[in-house]
Order: sequence, then structure tokens, then C-alpha cells
Amino acid sequence: MAGGFAVDAKVAGGRREFKGKITWYVWLCGLVAATSGLMFGYDVGISGGVTSMDDFLLSFFPAVYARKHRARENNYCKFDDQRLQLFTSSLYLAALAASFVASILCTRFGRKRTMQAASAFFLVGTGLCAGATNLAMLIVGRICLGVGVGFGNQAAPLFLSEIAPAHIRGALNILFQLDVTIGILIANIVNYFTSNIHPAGWRYSLGGAGVPAAVLFLGSLVITETPTSLVERGRRDAGRATLEKIRGTADVDDEFDEIKSACEIAAALREEERPFKRLRRRESRPPLVIAIAMQVFQQFTGINAIMFYAPVLFQTMGFKSDGSLLSAVVTGGVNVLSTLVSIVLVDKIGRRKLLLEACVQMLIAQSAVGGIMWVHVRANNNPSQGWAVAIVVLICVYVSSFAWSWGPLGWLIPSETFPLETRTAGFSFAVSSNMLFTFLIAQAFLSMMCYMRAFIFFFFAIWIVLMAAFVVALLPETKGVPIDEMVDRVWRRHWFWRRCFADADADAAKIDSYC
Ligand code: BGC
Repeated sequence: MAGGFAVDAKVAGGRREFKGKITWYVWLCGLVAATSGLMFGYDVGISGGVTSMDDFLLSFFPAVYARKHRARENNYCKFDDQRLQLFTSSLYLAALAASFVASILCTRFGRKRTMQAASAFFLVGTGLCAGATNLAMLIVGRICLGVGVGFGNQAAPLFLSEIAPAHIRGALNILFQLDVTIGILIANIVNYFTSNIHPAGWRYSLGGAGVPAAVLFLGSLVITETPTSLVERGRRDAGRATLEKIRGTADVDDEFDEIKSACEIAAALREEERPFKRLRRRESRPPLVIAIAMQVFQQFTGINAIMFYAPVLFQTMGFKSDGSLLSAVVTGGVNVLSTLVSIVLVDKIGRRKLLLEACVQMLIAQSAVGGIMWVHVRANNNPSQGWAVAIVVLICVYVSSFAWSWGPLGWLIPSETFPLETRTAGFSFAVSSNMLFTFLIAQAFLSMMCYMRAFIFFFFAIWIVLMAAFVVALLPETKGVPIDEMVDRVWRRHWFWRRCFADADADAAKIDSYC
């Protein structure tokens, strides 16, 4: 690939570090952009609690309300209702479509403007949901929120990876996921309190989503655009000035040269072929396959079965309404704390080790939960308190390992591995795959639990084995590699993926021999 040749000469001789400090401004920009994650996380966390609130069910899903309160209803099936699941999942379908539009917006108007648009959609969606008087209003509100999530999830991780110095790129990018987990936790806490406010508690829960959206909107007025995006859109001087500001030094020649050359190559390649078409080439396959696989696997860890439906799941296990929300708060807290572990470790021990360790831990926890539920949670009885507590502990063990691995790295790795010419287009496949599979899990989980019962946990356990094999064989380590050097330093050196470059290299050799 052409991008590779330009960089090759510069990196010959080994590793290269760019100059510059880690400035307070880079952290400020990172913190503001990560607020996108807060919007996303709040949504993930709020739906489960709201859909288990009686006032909400009575207003919009009376049939589910009646079934929930029928004493002899099957434990595993009482929340199985396609329309109820559509309330949760409609957001993700909208986000899926929005992520492709967001890819174009990110390239044409920049990452920052796309985040601003995200916050505006989010504010409108929040108003519609909190004020909903019928199901249609509720669903339209969820769709606006979905567009906000699609835009935000596309722009924020890219923004973070582009402003970060290479040696802390993992940590800075994981601020996004940290905010996702804080959003989920806040949502669980809000639900815990609003579930006792009748009849409008659910309105407060849904209305709370406006807070992170407002923070992102206001915050985005003070942050910068990424140097890469500025140069990419022809604003070289502004790009250079921004780079100096975020690195805290005027000595940024090397890094700026690299950004310029990546932008020149990207512009030439885009002229020759549109980014989405370019993604069909063999050389684009490695980051594309990895981006999609990371997100599909992330969802098949089963995390959202727990994040969306924790209160419902805990009620299935026999906890009372309050107890189940409280347990969801506990798992939410574990999620946040464990993400901090990832921030500390990701640039030290690398991505692969975190992912593999987590596979082992998740496999053990999922299988144990499945086993306990199989033996102790039958259709019409509840487990003893001891077993119920054991399940909550195991779910915490599971959540913690997800939180320092597949959670953050599902976003980090796709945002750092595409060359600039296909970065926004490629990353939109990561976002849309995440949304598609989040949608499928949100839409199907309650029905799957109804039919598969405890085996649902073994189903996810099998996926965990597959994803471990995938990491061992196909996922290269990207720790510390500058973002615009991935092709040469990662893909071309990988035992399997390097074959994707054979054609491009042969073409280049042919051209060389003609000249
Ligand atoms: C995932 C979400 C999930 C969250 C849990 C994110 O990385 O994309 O689907 O709900 O992590 O913390």
C-alpha cells in the first residue's frame, strides 16, 4: 500500500518517538470527547431499569405488566415481549445507520463538529422520551438518541486516538470506555431512586440523558479539532498550531511531517478511489476484519445481556425489585473500577495479554453462572439467598474482566489500526457492527433466555473460546506503535495478514521497474 512506502524510510532503524509533553490541554480535550461515552453508557444502563418499572410498563406495555404480576408465570419468560425489546433495541438500529453518515461527516466537517451534532440529536431525543405520552413518541425519541450515539461513537474514539501521543494512546482512548461505564453506573443509581417515585419516576430516568449531552455540547466549544482532521481538510497552519498546543512544544516537526504525509497519501488515494470502495481491497482486509470481529466478539461476550437487563435478570433470580436494581448498581461499580485497571495497564502490558486473560476469567464465570442457574433456578422457583449472592459475585468477576479488556479494546483497536485514507470509513464498520450486534442481543436476549434458560450462559461461553482463539492467531499487538505507522510496523509484519499486501507490492514493483 502506498501509505506504507512513505513511512518505511523514516522508520528504518527501529522505533521512533515523537517529541512533546502530555499537556493538560490534551487531557481536557480527551475528557470532553469522552463525554460521548457517557451519553452512550447512560442509555445502555437506563433501559433495563426503566423496563422493569411498573409505572412505565403500565403506561406503554400493559400486557407485560399483567404477565409480570401473574404469580405462576415462568421465571425465564415474564419479560419476553418483542415490543418491549424494541424499546431498548430501536436506538441501536438508528445508531447503526447513523454511523455510516457519521463517517462522511467526520471526514468532511471534522471529528469535533460530528460530536456537536451528536449532542444536539441527543438533546432532542431526551426531550421526546422524557415527555412521551405514547409509544410512537417514545420510539421516535429513541431513534434520535440512536443517531446521537452513532455520531458520537464514531467521532469520539477517532478523536481520542488522533490527539493522543502514541505511548499513552491506549489510556487516553479508554477514557471513552471509562465514561461508558460511568454512564451505565449513573443510570443504575438514577433508576434505583426514581423507581420509588410514582408515577413519573421513569420520566426522570429518561430525562437524565440530557445532562451528558449538554456537557458534551458545551465542552465541545472549548476543545480543538484534531491536527490530522485539520490538515486533511486543507488547514495546514491550524493543524500545525494545534499540534504544538496539544504537545506543549514548537518542536513537532517529525510528527507534523508524518501527519502531512499521511494526509497527502490519503488525499491521493481517495481521489483514485472512494474510501468505502477502497475497503474492498485485499490490503484493507486486516484492519477491517479485526474491527468487525472485535465488535462482534465484544457483544458475544454477553455483556449487554447483563448491562441492559441486569435488573430484569436479577428479578428472574428472585431478587425483589429494589434488590435487583441495587445489584445492578454493584455490577456497574465493578465495571467502572475495572476500566481504570485497563487505563493503567493497556500501554504497559499491551492489548493481547489483557484480552486473553479476560477470556479465561469470563469463561469460568459464565460457565459457573450457567451451572448454578441450571441447578437452582427452575421455571417457578427462586434460588436460595446463598446461591443468589454467589451469582451476583460471579457476575462481578465476569464484568470486571470484560471491563479491562473487550470493553475498552473493542473501541481502541479499530480506532488505531486503519490507515488515514480508510480510517473514518473503516471505523464506521466497527461502530455499525457494534450497534447491529447490540441490537440483536437487546432484541433477542429476553426471548433467548425464555427458550434457552440457563443454557444462555453456556452459549456465550462457547463464543468466549472462539474469541480467545482469534486473538491468539490473528490479532497483532499495537501497543506504542504510532497511529500512522500501523501498515508497515504491524500488518506487513504479521504472519498471516502480510499476505494481503502481496498484490499491492507486486504492482508497486512493476511501476518501479517501468520508471
Ligand atoms: C460496549 C457496550 C457495553 C459497555 C459495557 C461497551 O464497550 O460497546 O455495548 O454495554 O461496554 O461497559
